[in-house]
Amino acid sequence: MRILGIESSCDETAIALVTGKGDWLKVENSTVLSQIQTHQQYGGVVPEVAAREHLAAIFPMLERELPFDGQGIDAIAVTSGPGLAPALRVGVEVAKALAWSWGAPLIPVCHMEGHVYASWLPRSKRLFPFFPQRVPKFPALSLIVSGGHTELVMMHDHGKFERIGETLDDAAGEAFDKVAKMLGLQYPGGPNIARLAVGGNKTAFDFPRGMIERDDFTFSFSGIKTSVLYTLRKNEDKLDDAKFKSDIAASFQEAVVDVLTQKSMRAIEQYKPKSFILAGGVAANIELRNRIIKEGERRVTRVFVPPFSYSVDNAAMIAAAGYFRARNPKNFIEPVDLVADSNMDIV
Ligand code: KG4
Ligand code: ZN
Repeated sequence: MRILGIESSCDETAIALVTGKGDWLKVENSTVLSQIQTHQQYGGVVPEVAAREHLAAIFPMLERELPFDGQGIDAIAVTSGPGLAPALRVGVEVAKALAWSWGAPLIPVCHMEGHVYASWLPRSKRLFPFFPQRVPKFPALSLIVSGGHTELVMMHDHGKFERIGETLDDAAGEAFDKVAKMLGLQYPGGPNIARLAVGGNKTAFDFPRGMIERDDFTFSFSGIKTSVLYTLRKNEDKLDDAKFKSDIAASFQEAVVDVLTQKSMRAIEQYKPKSFILAGGVAANIELRNRIIKEGERRVTRVFVPPFSYSVDNAAMIAAAGYFRARNPKNFIEPVDLVADSNMDIV
């Protein structure tokens, strides 16, 4: 079965062609166009600007990359939420129009579910020639960490999710973006903080590990953000000191990674999943990847961390989630019934 995936929930316009057989997937095409440079001048993503850029990008991209008559495409999977409403609407309306004109089944996909399914996408054979392809086993536990979400979710089967904890305030990626702004770094903050943290002393500042004492799976990242702000205010004379800034970045990153890892490990011990899946844009963070792999492999049989290109927003993960949903025709939706839902959630 061959699925066209479409993603436009934030500032990446993405399309992909993924074929599936049984539990195995092959990515035939995954194209992503980032709007980061446009939004950098505003310090964050402006929804209406994002929508305009998606609209300008998506048809030329489809025409360049795909059989535009829809030949050989068995279903269209599109991110229908959560995300920025005007941005989501572009992908959703394009998918509806294509489904209607090709007569192809249409599958709405939750963006967060897409992030989880990034772990079903095959790794590059060139980079991992000796790794057999493998896929997660159920029950699986997933830590979803993105710009808008931080949640721990049990996945009992394809499409069957149970949220066991989430953030009470900021998402982990949001905390990275806000602290980056305080340090004068450009949007998106995550990769820039990670870069600045290299060579910094991660024990220089003891930033709070929110909710770490609580033995449930709630997160909170607003306290650490405020603590970084006060530290910067107290040290105004050092704001041009590269070593000081790099120590702040390293200590902040360490605190966030500590909380995410410890809560995940506690959840593994309590729920005893067969696989652990790291998902979402923050999964591109090397410190987090390394810690989760190291600690997780001591506790569960398999830890899945998607390749970098499938950690951040892309459409291959949406097509992957769509493929598993397409195996049950109950998940198809008529084009007229599909609306973008900016507040949609995985459960
Ligand atoms: O999943 P994603 O691409 O978009 C959303 O669904 O939100 O995640 C974007 C988030 C941003 O907050 C960005 O700063 C963060 O992921 N991010 C990172 C890294 N790369 C992206 N955070 C920490 N370290 C990174 N290397
Ligand atoms: Zn995302």
